[in-house]
Amino acid sequence: MSDPTRPAVPSFGNRDPNSPGFWDERFKEQFMPWDQAGVPEGFRAFVAERDGQTPPNVLIPGCGSAYEALYLAECGWPVRTIDFSPNAVAAAREQLGAHGGIVEQVDFFAYEPPFAPDWVYERTFLCAMLKDRWQEL
Ligand SMILES: C[S@@+](CC[C@H](N)C(=O)[O-])C[C@H]1O[C@@H](n2cnc3c(N)ncnc32)[C@H](O)[C@@H]1O
Repeated sequence: MSDPTRPAVPSFGNRDPNSPGFWDERFKEQFMPWDQAGVPEGFRAFVAERDGQTPPNVLIPGCGSAYEALYLAECGWPVRTIDFSPNAVAAAREQLGAHGGIVEQVDFFAYEPPFAPDWVYERTFLCAMLKDRWQEL
């Protein structure tokens, strides 16, 4: 029996999460069960604890809708964010508005950030990747 509290899963053609097309399909269908539609409270607290300190260079790979990147940019932190799915990047740009320049469409494994990242923040990026890629990280 289907669970009425869970959204119906559309029929997807791409089953390879290593390919941008896999994610494109899901963003296109707005089927993003991982998307929290906001910034985690713990993330806000972590940033607030560092108020008054020199902010670190932050890289956020696999940003999806880029809520945390927007938050950091609005706090004045140096942040760059990437995603390899064109539809994810479009969602990020929409979210980021005037800060849209901080997002790039690029594969994490080919990316050379314009700064030396002090911190890398990720949320459901690593766990969305097939384990056979982990040794490349
Ligand atoms: C599960 S989603 C998480 C999105 C976002 N971090 C969040 O928490 O809402 C995983 C994201 O990682 C991106 N991604 C997966 N592999 C990637 C890679 N090799 N390079 C860049 N982005 C990648 C996907 O396009 C997708 O947007």
